[in-house]
Amino acid sequence: MPYFLAFESLIGGVSKYFTPFYRVNKEGGFGFEKQLFARPQLNITPQVLTNQGDELLSFAREMEARGFDEINLNVGCPFPMLTNRKLGSGLLPYPDMLRQMLTAYFNADVRLKLSIKLRLGLVDTNEIYAVMEVLSDFRVEEIILHPRIGVQQYKGEPNWEAFKDLSLRYSLVGNGDINSMDILDDIKLRFPDTPAWMLGRGLLTNPCLLRPELEWRDTMIKLHDLFLNNLKEFGLSDHQILNQLKCFWEYPAQYLEKGQRELRKMKKVGSMEAYEVSKIRLIADS
Ligand SMILES: Cc1cc2nc3c(=O)[nH]c(=O)nc-3n(C[C@H](O)[C@H](O)[C@H](O)COP(=O)(O)O)c2cc1C
Repeated sequence: MPYFLAFESLIGGVSKYFTPFYRVNKEGGFGFEKQLFARPQLNITPQVLTNQGDELLSFAREMEARGFDEINLNVGCPFPMLTNRKLGSGLLPYPDMLRQMLTAYFNADVRLKLSIKLRLGLVDTNEIYAVMEVLSDFRVEEIILHPRIGVQQYKGEPNWEAFKDLSLRYSLVGNGDINSMDILDDIKLRFPDTPAWMLGRGLLTNPCLLRPELEWRDTMIKLHDLFLNNLKEFGLSDHQILNQLKCFWEYPAQYLEKGQRELRKMKKVGSMEAYEVSKIRLIADS
């Protein structure tokens, strides 16, 4: 949220943001931050990772109370610790379990829209077909497809042929490896009917991707300062702020020639003073 608020006020050009996923912890709660509530200046959808109807419902009720009008279900996460538990893309081979969860959701008295983020499958690209049949039986607001399979994690190329085949039958938002304006323009030409495109790592690495008139270095410095202000306003401790700032540079560092080396050094600093020196070194590299 602090990053998105800074991004939206400085750069914008994004119609919708998604939180990273929330998941029930060992105590059975989600551990929401108290600042997680809908804000007029930011169209943000909270995401949940679950395979249980009751968890999905309790997430939805909490988000409704916090003023949101949509939640997103994560059926795409590829990390084995989660997929082994039939979570994220680990749920894709079990369309009946998905149906049960969605039935519980849509039979209950929740008014929140539900959108879904998914992959083609866990181990096989054909898993998606049974899943799409399940989804078409419900009033799903939006389906975002990252056309890889779970076991691929982030390796190889997105399977745009499979995306094309599915797009003939379903309205899908596309996502995956859109790392430049050229790639975005090409893919929009290739799939003119696709209603929207989701960007992840490309936009984190180059926040000016959609605003080529902005200068990267100057924008990064302003974005950083706004982000830092927001972290302070959100009441994070110095230690938490330092960790967040180190994460902030994780993707932008890839934009810089010696970024990885400077980032490794930055990760070792233990004070804000040392961080400032390290940040100046990193950004001077551009
Ligand atoms: C470190 C990391 C964390 C991610 N966390 C989430 C997440 O919480 N929820 C989600 O839907 N996708 C998550 N994703 C996947 C992205 O949303 C996206 O589908 C993927 O990175 C491909 O798109 P991109 O190439 O534009 O980044 C994550 C990806 C990475 C690399």
